Amino acid sequence: MTTLQNLPADRLPDLLRGMPKAELHIHIEGSLEPELIFRMAQRNGLTLPYASVDDLRRAYAFTNLQSFLDIYYAGASVLLTEQDFYDMAWAYLERAKADHVVHAEIFFDPQTHTARGVSMQTVIQGLHRACEAARGALGVEATLILCFLRHLSEQDAFETLEQALPFRDQFIGVGLDSSELGHPPEKFAKVFARCRELGLRLVAHAGEEGPPAYVWSALDVLHVERIDHGVQSIQDPELMKRLARDRVPLTVCPLSNLKLCVFPRLADHNLRQLLDAGLAATVNSDDPAYFGGYMNANFTETFAATGLTTAHAYQLARNSFEASFVDAAAKAAYIERLDTFFATFQ
Ligand code: HPA
Ligand code: ZN
Repeated sequence: MTTLQNLPADRLPDLLRGMPKAELHIHIEGSLEPELIFRMAQRNGLTLPYASVDDLRRAYAFTNLQSFLDIYYAGASVLLTEQDFYDMAWAYLERAKADHVVHAEIFFDPQTHTARGVSMQTVIQGLHRACEAARGALGVEATLILCFLRHLSEQDAFETLEQALPFRDQFIGVGLDSSELGHPPEKFAKVFARCRELGLRLVAHAGEEGPPAYVWSALDVLHVERIDHGVQSIQDPELMKRLARDRVPLTVCPLSNLKLCVFPRLADHNLRQLLDAGLAATVNSDDPAYFGGYMNANFTETFAATGLTTAHAYQLARNSFEASFVDAAAKAAYIERLDTFFATFQ
């Protein structure tokens, strides 16, 4: 496998944009662009507390995770019908294709919707139909991961799981998101144990703003297979050794980390240290409509700011496929496609 060591620096952005990649950390509600929020509000007869698209966009100035979540949940409140969920997912999948994302594992937050009286069926079927359509129409493979909101109770998560089980074949796993500090993974030990028994794949946000202890408990109490974010792991050398030894994937989201002030500047991001320590880090967009960029913007801006190389580009794309929840044959096919891209890029 060539890693194009002699590639002229000005060709690196095209390599990053064109390489096939998987996205493993995208909240579908975070892909809802302001224009779509306004269109859906209008067709659903809702009034928004913002006068215009520009007015709403101006509110996207965040100081931490919670300041973002407050606006993100308000934006999601325009989603009412199955068509709304379909349209939101379809818009994301078209963007994914444009960025050469060939495989996406998409988070959704059902409690944000069921709490407003929207049925689980409306949510899941709208999203699932879009994923199904994308395979043929866009050549993008997409699956769904149901996330529990960690600021709510474990009982609420159990009730959400019950409501979702009639649609068990329409999502592949569960995750844990929303306000991290004060809501450690172990709060959800029982519901994750149940999901594990059901054969669902397990992931959790940990170490975005929270301490390394939350990454440890996501691994050792919840038994997750991937850590979403995980950038705070760098504070704990023992944890770094564990993550490297077990090749636990981290779904890192650089522009999200910048916008939520996890790092003061993109140049200060620790992606390179994570990779160089042997961790299976990946690049993802998290909430692209809110954080200023989809996949390719995350790649090109982070590489420009931190001086990552073509070898890192290959490693990140390869990690994204290796960390994905597909079978060994599908993984090998994705990696072969990646290798062909690198072998023929000029
Ligand atoms: N962290 C936690 N919860 C979230 C995020 C995030 O980055 N995005 C959407 N929900
Ligand atoms: Zn996230």
